[in-house]
Amino acid sequence: MPRLATDPGLYFEAHFFMCTNRRPDGHPRGSCAASGSEKLRDYAKARAKELGIKGIRVNGAACLDRCEFGPTLVIYPEGIWYQARTVADIDEILETHLRQGGRVERLMIAPDQKIPEKSLRPWPTRSSPSPPHRAAPEWPYCAPPARRRGLWPRL
Ligand code: FES
Repeated sequence: MPRLATDPGLYFEAHFFMCTNRRPDGHPRGSCAASGSEKLRDYAKARAKELGIKGIRVNGAACLDRCEFGPTLVIYPEGIWYQARTVADIDEILETHLRQGGRVERLMIAPDQKIPEKSLRPWPTRSSPSPPHRAAPEWPYCAPPARRRGLWPRL
């Protein structure tokens, strides 16, 4: 949505929102925090300060609804999405996008980008091997219903 001529000036030139949402282990959509986004957000914040990049704000965000690409981040007002998995990715985004005004194309997530195959996602999914099976409890817990109700002939 375009800004209006009557809108007040920007308080920050750019916002760097990194999803730090955490879901329970094994959730089918995974979560960015489970992929290490909290540490990456902290790193981005400290590194932006260290580099002296002015007029930007690095924030953690709740789920950005592009979980399957996680860890995800979006930079506004441009609305450019990135997948950043390492501190080297964060360095490149800070330097190229926020300092030089360019784009890190290899990390960008397009608006129509397909969700990656589950096998390529970094977190456990429903199809991951399940934990070792626990032995079934002994009688009477797994006895037929009639036996549990006392209708089974006594031995
Ligand atoms: S959990 Fe990060 S975008 Fe949803």
